[in-house]
Amino acid sequence: MSTSNLGGQFTFPGTSLAVQRMGYGAMQLAGRDGDKLVWGPPRDIDGAIAVLREAVASGINHIDTSDFYGPHITNQLIRRALHPYPQDLVIVTKVSARRGEDGSWLPALSPEELTQAVHDNLRNLGLDVLDVVNLRSMFAVHGPAEGSLEGPLTTLAKLREKGLIRHIGLSNVTRQQIEDAQKIVPLVCVQNAYNVANRADDPLIDQLEKAGIAYVPFFPLGGFNLLQSADLSAVAQSLNASPMQVALAWLLQRSANILLIPGTSSVEHLRENLAASKLMLPSDALKALDRLASESETAQH
Ligand SMILES: NC(=O)c1ccc[n+]([C@@H]2O[C@H](COP(=O)([O-])OP(=O)(O)OC[C@H]3O[C@@H](n4cnc5c(N)ncnc54)[C@H](OP(=O)(O)O)[C@@H]3O)[C@@H](O)[C@H]2O)c1
Repeated sequence: MSTSNLGGQFTFPGTSLAVQRMGYGAMQLAGRDGDKLVWGPPRDIDGAIAVLREAVASGINHIDTSDFYGPHITNQLIRRALHPYPQDLVIVTKVSARRGEDGSWLPALSPEELTQAVHDNLRNLGLDVLDVVNLRSMFAVHGPAEGSLEGPLTTLAKLREKGLIRHIGLSNVTRQQIEDAQKIVPLVCVQNAYNVANRADDPLIDQLEKAGIAYVPFFPLGGFNLLQSADLSAVAQSLNASPMQVALAWLLQRSANILLIPGTSSVEHLRENLAASKLMLPSDALKALDRLASESETAQH
């Protein structure tokens, strides 16, 4: 597949890093141990490596990861599959958490923990410098919550001055946290939960688009609870596409600063997701999908 089919190109602001808008999220490559999600090695290591290699061979040049996936396992798989990396590959990682023995996600935001996390990412990915590091807010695990990020951001800014990080982004954050962060360091991307059914970040996306900052939705397909709706299925059927393809095509059409990182451990799903970059949603489909968002909002209230 030619790279021109992957949603077009986006350049992170103030950088020379350009990526195809259709990328890949690597979290799903780690395994699972009972209730412990994103834990340990995958059942099919060769399959995981095949997904990564096919993603890059298909023109994907933006991979999202973290050293706390596995922990360590996902980054080690990326290295094993793709090192030495193609020159245009941008690997975006995130820091701020460590994993408890029970699989929990615990805050790890002290200067020592963040420095260790950056070194762990460098070692496990086999890199001398990390292209982009997202600081993930941990005031609440399941969504943004107010609180100061000044301390951890200052640590990351220092690691950037030392040459270990090229660029910085934020994840799981509020508008206020983004505004405050920009006084400390330039931001190239924001990664929050967002998809066709969960549009709480709409005003934020518009604001970031004006500033040229990438918005990278996590859970673009619903994450651990895949998107399911009669409206989504009906639109998909009318376009001879799958519901997941419609969900991804909607994001690409939503705004030019949205970059996609759908996660999959399956080559078949990867191919299906890549093909979504060629799907155009007509206006009646967009209207039907707006209903899906308002239904989901009503359900939450
Ligand atoms: N910053 C954060 O806090 C944060 C949090 C979560 C995730 N992330 C990042 O965001 C990325 C995306 O999120 P995610 O992977 O959790 O959720 P997602 O992309 O919304 O959904 C992943 C799920 O969708 C399934 N799937 C993928 N393509 C499919 C298809 N074509 N048809 C049917 N099912 C399909 C996958 O299963 P199969 O493996 O069977 O395909 C997997 O269960 C992650 O990989 C990670 O890099 C960041």
